[in-house]
Amino acid sequence: MKARTFFILLALLLAGPLTAKAAFAESKFMKSFRTSYEQNRFDALGFLVKTNKDIIPGEIRSLLDEARAAEGFEKKMAILDLAATMATMYGEWHGQDGFTGEIEALQKEELKKEEERKAELEKWKKYEALPGNILMRVKAEAAGMAPVIFPHWVHRINFECKACHPAPFEMKKTGSIGMTEIFGGGLCGKCHNGTTAFSAAADCERCHSVGTPGEAHLLDPRKADISKLRETSERLGTGLNLDLLPGKALPYDRFGNIDWGLLGKARKPIRSLEGAPAGKADETRDNEILFESPMPYVNNVVFSHKTHSERVVCSSCHQAFFKDQLGANIASMKDMAEGASCGACHQKVAFKFADCNRCHSKPVAEDAGGALKRK
Ligand code: HEC
Ligand code: HEC
Ligand code: HEC
Ligand code: HEC
Ligand code: HEC
Ligand code: HEC
Repeated sequence: MKARTFFILLALLLAGPLTAKAAFAESKFMKSFRTSYEQNRFDALGFLVKTNKDIIPGEIRSLLDEARAAEGFEKKMAILDLAATMATMYGEWHGQDGFTGEIEALQKEELKKEEERKAELEKWKKYEALPGNILMRVKAEAAGMAPVIFPHWVHRINFECKACHPAPFEMKKTGSIGMTEIFGGGLCGKCHNGTTAFSAAADCERCHSVGTPGEAHLLDPRKADISKLRETSERLGTGLNLDLLPGKALPYDRFGNIDWGLLGKARKPIRSLEGAPAGKADETRDNEILFESPMPYVNNVVFSHKTHSERVVCSSCHQAFFKDQLGANIASMKDMAEGASCGACHQKVAFKFADCNRCHSKPVAEDAGGALKRK
């Protein structure tokens, strides 16, 4: 490399960060003002405002620019608070107030935007309020279609988890389902082909149901037409027999969600789809594992490998959610609330944490009763 080129490159390298820094550099005044403000030192703030009359309007302007450019409501509001303090003190000390109106308008505008953002979130919440309901809306809305509600409950009546997990669906929200695969006979299209279930090509609105009358029963199974549920079960040969249940209707737990434990006896869900590799769906493990409570007043937890492996294939839990080694996993309510451990399914698709004693079923003083102890 020639010496001249080298020096030009060096100059560019050095100049880059320097000019960038100069553009955002904070004045000494601003630095002191921010620090004193954060420390609630109003005496110092007063002194600064009193002795810097000429530069303050420019400083307020730059704060307003900073607030407009900042990311997120909290940050914007914090900067606007600082600007409002500066403007008010400026007005008090120097009798000139050109800014408070503009700042208030900006604050109101940001508050309104934040309220709208929250209302938008709230509006979508009801679609996932029932455990297992999944709202799929990003791709649909981008294409001008109504969002899709995927209701686990409708499907669970006739299919076990292992019919769909881990293939054709990962056990997580991916946002990557689309019509090309569906019309091609993959994903939802494995069943929504007019034979196993209604055809995707024929009945857009039954999936793209948000905002249609058809959404009501997906959000609340009590509104479902039981005779239709029976018809589907008959066609698929899964023997739904609600007459076996008290009330002769879908059973609910005391939190208002379908009680799948009770429903278990009233139908025989399909465990693997046609063409899926045989074997995996049939493998079960016939034991129970005792999670010992760290506190004497909280019951121990009994985990049934049998009932879980009847529903879920081993590889859905091992090793993604649990190592297959006794005592190798740490389980806590905090992890679960964040969707780890038992919380990978419970609270999302299986019964909610609120139902404490369904998991914490064995008093600490009681014998393990054949369950494997983890320690
Ligand atoms: C079995 C359910 C189902 C049916 C029936 C269905 N769709 Fe979809 N569709 C989906 C899902 C799921 C998505 C993904 C939604 C998302 O993630 O935003 C989707 C997405 C779309 C998209 C967005 C582009 C893409 O492919 O992701 C379009 C357009 C669309 N559907 C059109 C239709 C039309 C038109 C019909 C009827 C001829 C139809 N859909 C029927 C489930 C269905
Ligand atoms: C008819 C098919 C089907 C059946 C049966 C099914 N699922 Fe799913 N499940 C899905 C689909 C589709 C998704 C979303 C996948 C995506 O976004 O790509 C999903 C997602 C999930 C998720 C992630 C949810 C979230 O909020 O993050 C969990 C957990 C899950 N399923 C557990 C289960 C369990 C447990 C069972 C059995 C009780 C079950 N599934 C039965 C199709 C099914
Ligand atoms: C394992 C087979 C299977 C898969 C995979 C499957 N479905 Fe279904 N789905 C069914 C069956 C069976 C019904 C009951 C209705 C019927 O018999 O046509 C149903 C019903 C529904 C309903 C209820 C419609 C109503 O009016 O009550 C919706 C919505 C739905 N499916 C959406 C989806 C979406 C979206 C996907 C993919 C993410 C999907 N399904 C994947 C089998 C399946
Ligand atoms: C719903 C999730 C889940 C499913 C499905 C599951 N396991 Fe497990 N498995 C666990 C948990 C939880 C433990 C306890 C881990 C611990 O003690 O830290 C465990 C422990 C084990 C262990 C060590 C203890 C023992 O039982 O000997 C083995 C081996 C094991 N699993 C094999 C399997 C096999 C094989 C299958 C499929 C037939 C399976 N698991 C299905 C959750 C699951
Ligand atoms: C899906 C099953 C499940 C449900 C539902 C559940 N727990 Fe737990 N809980 C566990 C498991 C597993 C552990 C770990 C046990 C251990 O430490 O050996 C645990 C641990 C705990 C602990 C020990 C400390 C901690 O935070 O981890 C407390 C306390 C506790 N649960 C209270 C509750 C209460 C209260 C509820 C109801 C609001 C509840 N649990 C619902 C499975 C559950
Ligand atoms: C892969 C998903 C999944 C994971 C992970 C999981 N469960 Fe479950 N569990 C289910 C499903 C599905 C049911 C059926 C009831 C329902 O859907 O509400 C169930 C039912 C239960 C029941 C009711 C009695 C029974 O055995 O049928 C208990 C108790 C239970 N789970 C405890 C646990 C504990 C404790 C853990 C963690 C160590 C755990 N589960 C992890 C899916 C899961």
